[in-house]
Amino acid sequence: MADALVCKTILKNETLQQYIFDVSTKGREHKLLKEIREASFEKYSSNAIMGVLPDEGLFLSILLKLMNAKKTLEIGVFTGYSLLTTALALPDDGKIIAVDPSREAYEVGLPFIREAGVEHKITFVESEAFPVLDELLEKGEQFDFVFVDADKENYKNYHEKLLKLVKLGGAIARAIMDLNSSLASDPRIEISQVPIGDGVTLCRRII
Ligand SMILES: C[S@@+](CC[C@H](N)C(=O)[O-])C[C@H]1O[C@@H](n2cnc3c(N)ncnc32)[C@H](O)[C@@H]1O
Repeated sequence: MADALVCKTILKNETLQQYIFDVSTKGREHKLLKEIREASFEKYSSNAIMGVLPDEGLFLSILLKLMNAKKTLEIGVFTGYSLLTTALALPDDGKIIAVDPSREAYEVGLPFIREAGVEHKITFVESEAFPVLDELLEKGEQFDFVFVDADKENYKNYHEKLLKLVKLGGAIARAIMDLNSSLASDPRIEISQVPIGDGVTLCRRII
């Protein structure tokens, strides 16, 4: 499994990536996150590599805690690795709206989410993201943090809606390798490209 993890990442120096997995993430990955990862590989074999990896998960977790995030939105749940990471990082009264058209994959991770005692923070919406984003905009909802890890071809279309849904000073993280040049020229956000997992670009709304 270690080799499969390395192959998927943006870092092409396998020695460095393996070093990060061996030294920084080993022993720090929550037991139930490891179990979700293993259950995903068991159910989906090589397709399971689309889940967030431990190094990216630790980054998300520390970021959410540093921001004191309480209310987040996730687009692209799969079996719930990033979702459980988020639910564990949020306070007990934290809230996450998690959107994915596949409930089947979410249910693979659900027993681990339940065992972690964090299911009460999650509202899973079985849907494509667009109609949900429109509904959230209509209701005037605002989020501290949005994590986008879904259909990459729609990221540019999500951007305008997400900029309205994230609070001023809030952050949007996207797991993606491209899109960055258009984000770099957008004056409404600060960005930081983080070469972790399969690539994450962090956007902070400033206008
Ligand atoms: C890369 S995986 C997400 C991995 C997940 N964040 C994790 O940590 O395991 C991409 C997910 O996006 C979902 N997806 C695809 N198109 C979508 C859309 N239009 N709206 C919401 N989710 C979508 C897929 O069903 C899939 O579960």
